[in-house]
Amino acid sequence: MEQIDWSNLTFGYMPTDYNVRCVCKNGVWGELEVSSSAYINMHMAATCLHYGQEAFEGMKAFRGKDGQIRVFRMRDNAERLQSSCRGIMMAELPVEKYEEAIIKVIKLNERFVPPYESGASLYIRPVLFGTTAQVGVKPAADYMFVVFVTPVGPYFKAGFKPTPYAIMRQFDRVAPLGTGTYKVGGNYAASLVAGEKAHAMGYSAVLYLDSKEKKYLDECGPANFFGIRGNSYITPKSDSILPSITNKSLMTLAEDMGMTVERRHIEVEELATFDEAGACGTAAVISPVSRIDDIDENKSYVFSKDGEAGPVCTKLYNRLRAIQYGDEEDKFGWVTIVK
Ligand code: PLP
Ligand code: COI
Repeated sequence: MEQIDWSNLTFGYMPTDYNVRCVCKNGVWGELEVSSSAYINMHMAATCLHYGQEAFEGMKAFRGKDGQIRVFRMRDNAERLQSSCRGIMMAELPVEKYEEAIIKVIKLNERFVPPYESGASLYIRPVLFGTTAQVGVKPAADYMFVVFVTPVGPYFKAGFKPTPYAIMRQFDRVAPLGTGTYKVGGNYAASLVAGEKAHAMGYSAVLYLDSKEKKYLDECGPANFFGIRGNSYITPKSDSILPSITNKSLMTLAEDMGMTVERRHIEVEELATFDEAGACGTAAVISPVSRIDDIDENKSYVFSKDGEAGPVCTKLYNRLRAIQYGDEEDKFGWVTIVK
């Protein structure tokens, strides 16, 4: 087997042994199939290619000190994929089938689950799309579900070090009553121009404001946003952001740590009152925010001056990771052990 430098993995694609697939014909899902090909044979008129009928998920599996492999909040992701399917009129994959596919793909690629000591994990990428050949704009009759895995390190190069984010008021990611709550490819395509511009200017990602009024915080490119003020964990309530499973977990952990959790509209100016800020998601885990520049308004909000994450972000990060790797008791029932 090729040597993998587990401790220096980035968030990139590396080929693994197998992927798992399932096809839906006229509303009926078939059996799971195992493939060793990374390619899909598809009709050139498939609805996913022309009309964006595509949704995906992102999950991780972790190898513990005890050698066991744990998957984090699999059912929540299965249900969110169903919600994304309803959002763009695709056939919903049954939760049980989703879970079976995830366990199967992890087991088949067990040798790619990074060792505990590396701090890396196995990223799991399920994707579901319309395959019917069609030129009229309407939902497909047939769908395909594929799940592949790849070992990954940190999403943002700095890992758990604070980095800057930008508010770019000339760009919206999603429409107020659009598809922001679904994990569909089109949302990410719509974020590429702003995202690349932000990267070129040295920012980790864009912090989007609500598209209607440009008054409230929405989310950070590929992650949700939260702020810490005193003993409060404050995170945006919005109809145009992805309901992040990491954020939901951090809210539970914050409450468990005796903090007050506020999920509500957050006006941009309120950033000035936060002691700490972070971006959170499966890929990002917690990515502490050093500074947010509201570029067009010529304003800056600074959260870290010494290049270190704040104490609350650090505590939340450590607890979340401890549960994911099995170092701390799974008292909320978030973890599935792959047997
Ligand atoms: N927001 C967006 C737009 C995302 O792509 C993601 C990543 O999945 C998140 C938030 C974080 O969600 P989760 O914590 O479920 O990974
Ligand atoms: C995730 O956090 O799993 C994501 O999907 C974010 C990004 C890689 C799109």
